[in-house]
Amino acid sequence: TGMFTYDPGYTSTASCSSTITFIDGSKGELRYRGIPIETLATEHSYLETCYLLLNEHLPGKEELLDFDLELRHRAYIHEGLRTLFNAFPDNAHPMATLSATVTALASFHKEHLTLDNEADFHTMASRILAKIPTIAAFSYRHSLGIPFIQPNIELSFTENFLTMMRAYPGGKMKLTANGHSEIKEVEVRALDTIFTLHADHEQNASTTVVRGVASTGAHPYVAIASGISALWGRAHGGANESVIAQLEMIGSVDRVEEFIARAKDPNDDFRLMGFGHRVYKNFDPRAKILKTLQDELKEELDLDSHLMEIAGRIEEIALSDEYFISRNLYPNIDFYTGIILTALQIPKNMFTPIFVIGRTVGWITQWIEFKKDPTSKIARPRQLYVGK
Ligand code: CMC
Repeated sequence: TGMFTYDPGYTSTASCSSTITFIDGSKGELRYRGIPIETLATEHSYLETCYLLLNEHLPGKEELLDFDLELRHRAYIHEGLRTLFNAFPDNAHPMATLSATVTALASFHKEHLTLDNEADFHTMASRILAKIPTIAAFSYRHSLGIPFIQPNIELSFTENFLTMMRAYPGGKMKLTANGHSEIKEVEVRALDTIFTLHADHEQNASTTVVRGVASTGAHPYVAIASGISALWGRAHGGANESVIAQLEMIGSVDRVEEFIARAKDPNDDFRLMGFGHRVYKNFDPRAKILKTLQDELKEELDLDSHLMEIAGRIEEIALSDEYFISRNLYPNIDFYTGIILTALQIPKNMFTPIFVIGRTVGWITQWIEFKKDPTSKIARPRQLYVGK
């Protein structure tokens, strides 16, 4: 190819050096700042993981308390920003509203265009981390036409989000037809683990977009909004919504084989959602953790046994089928999140926004790393011209 390496999809190009996340795709290993994902998911909270990504070490007790309190204080959004939701149609997908509102947030914080010291970076990062769940919950409630629930300073990060999703104004009750129960501890723990598993994943498509926007000198929140847009697609974060849609479409265990046959057919563009990964060629460690969590939750939560049965059958056939084995196609993180999120009474169109909430810390940490790296350059690949 002459002067350039031709590498569509960047399958063999390292675009940066990084100290944030390590993946060994052949061994199914994932570490944040050197710590295995299994340790973080089972022994630490999502907020501790956020602190670790941003500060390169796990927080002590005082550090965690300060960080937690700061996020609680910053969770409120400007009243002016709130009026923006009125501009969207009722049936707007929350990902569209989320991306647009985060872009608008940049106009409320012009000071973050120039960040001179550690304190500036810290304020910019904690502000977006704290506000994303509020904006996501408001996007959802707008799509239903129900009143917004303001963040509650007395609640932890994850419980606050679940409350903003499900509560009635003035209370913490779930919005369900079949009885109102309080948000359960086990639900908070499950969602917290899901956030941790999504926190970062080195140079995936959306993070590459975030770094690309960073490279032009645009506002950090606009870079995050661009990451949100990139994540929406079903080859990436949108897969979690598509998995459940697909399981519902398949509808019964006896139809699984028909759809597996379609996935294998080179003339059919049907793909099994939640299967395959660019980097993991053995197993996705996040999927393994979620499968264990799903089994634990079976006792405590009302998991949809019908969908689980269909999913189980898909796994069973695919994992012993030559097509999937020879291409190293295994269930990925998105294959399992939907079933757990459904049990937490989170609707399908909020699955990808939940991925956004978890991933924002990774995007912003990568943005900061890019800014501080003296070798960073504007993202400007070349092409192989084949036209007239
Ligand atoms: N079902 C059926 N066949 C598949 C699938 C699938 N889900 N995924 C890949 N293949 C086949 C593909 O047709 C190709 O076959 P062949 O060599 O005969 O042409 C081979 O496997 C390699 O696929 P590829 O598209 O070249 O691989 P990629 O690394 O470019 O794509 C992927 C990775 C994740 C986009 C892809 O596996 C996919 O579309 N999966 C379904 C969507 C999904 O679950 N995405 C979530 C990814 S994990 C978390 C996240 O990023 O959100």
